Amino acid sequence: MARTFTSAKARCFTESVIREMTRLANRHGAVNLAQGFPDFAAPAAIKAAAKAAIDADRNQYAITWGTKNLRDAIARRAKAYNGIDVDPETMVTVCCGATEAMIATMLATVDPGEEVIIFEPFYENYGPDCILSGAQPVFYRLEPPDFAIDFDALAKLFTPRTKAIVLNTPNNPTGKVFTRAELQRIAALCQEHDCLAITDEIYEYILYDGAQHVSMATLPGMAERTVTISGHSKTFSVTGWRIGYAIAPPAITAAIRKVHDFLTVGAPHPLQEAAAAALEFPPQFFLDLGASYTKRRDRLFEGLERANFKPVKPKGAYYIMADIGHFGFRDDVAFAKHLVESVGVAGVPGSSFFRDPEAGKRWIRFCFPKQDATIDAALERLGNLQ
Ligand SMILES: Cc1ncc(COP(=O)(O)O)c(C=O)c1O
Repeated sequence: MARTFTSAKARCFTESVIREMTRLANRHGAVNLAQGFPDFAAPAAIKAAAKAAIDADRNQYAITWGTKNLRDAIARRAKAYNGIDVDPETMVTVCCGATEAMIATMLATVDPGEEVIIFEPFYENYGPDCILSGAQPVFYRLEPPDFAIDFDALAKLFTPRTKAIVLNTPNNPTGKVFTRAELQRIAALCQEHDCLAITDEIYEYILYDGAQHVSMATLPGMAERTVTISGHSKTFSVTGWRIGYAIAPPAITAAIRKVHDFLTVGAPHPLQEAAAAALEFPPQFFLDLGASYTKRRDRLFEGLERANFKPVKPKGAYYIMADIGHFGFRDDVAFAKHLVESVGVAGVPGSSFFRDPEAGKRWIRFCFPKQDATIDAALERLGNLQ
């Protein structure tokens, strides 16, 4: 028998369905509402800052856990917006995107055999992150349309092996924004069971209809047991720059920094300088972000309703989950395939956000960080859907 040269770990998960949908969209000339990246320009000031940093020869390795400028700026923003007290010297690790911040955090905090609770539907990276760190994922299902939490059921998932709970607010793919009351109850469970909260807050500024972003680390008793992850991809429309970070108490940060150093050494130096400048943008920039995404959300939401989908209105982030059960397809994958190949629009099959594909079979996810013309082109094509 020929030897298998791939690891058991790597065989345990598939390629990202989201990134695969982008490749399919390109192949079929479809409008890409699958992968969550803007098709409009990044702010001129952030681009100018990057060019200036390259010209100023910030082109060699930065300090592995992030340039001082960026860590200082992250600490100031975290205090001003999130209300988190951050020592930039001991509590911040700048990574290659929130993606790396999450896997570095898991590798730094979770041992093989320990359990990690994940809300589903979930951002698809969390599953492989668990496998790569040897953790056993334990899923708690949120049901549409309000994605409310049954706390008795959630409490039952905690065991002596539970090391952490991962939550993502505002949430991809559901658009749920966890309320303070919900976070307080999750915080109480974390304290009762002595485990960590790892929060992915990458959409923290993209909020609708008055929804408020609350950071878990600000709740009583949580600063010492929370890792707060965020980054620049979504707020500053620079998903290709790969700038993210983890904020954590010093002892946890020391472990995350070690893992991060051996994973990637560091995020791109000149882009870190530009990222620092971006965090000092005037308050209006952050307010405008919510306003502009509200328009995009409404445009896509209303269009999907006209095209006979049953979309769920998000309260944050930039995705819409839409019910497709009534279109009569075998499942979400068959529907998404038809959409990209024959209708010319790419979305993400709902099953990629669930452990059990059955659970996602009546859902498709569309994203809307797109120009009006792109959203309109997609809606025009979806109007032809039979
Ligand atoms: C919930 C969530 N976390 C993290 C990321 C990736 O962030 P980054 O580009 O900073 O790695 C995404 C991207 O879609 C996301 O939706």
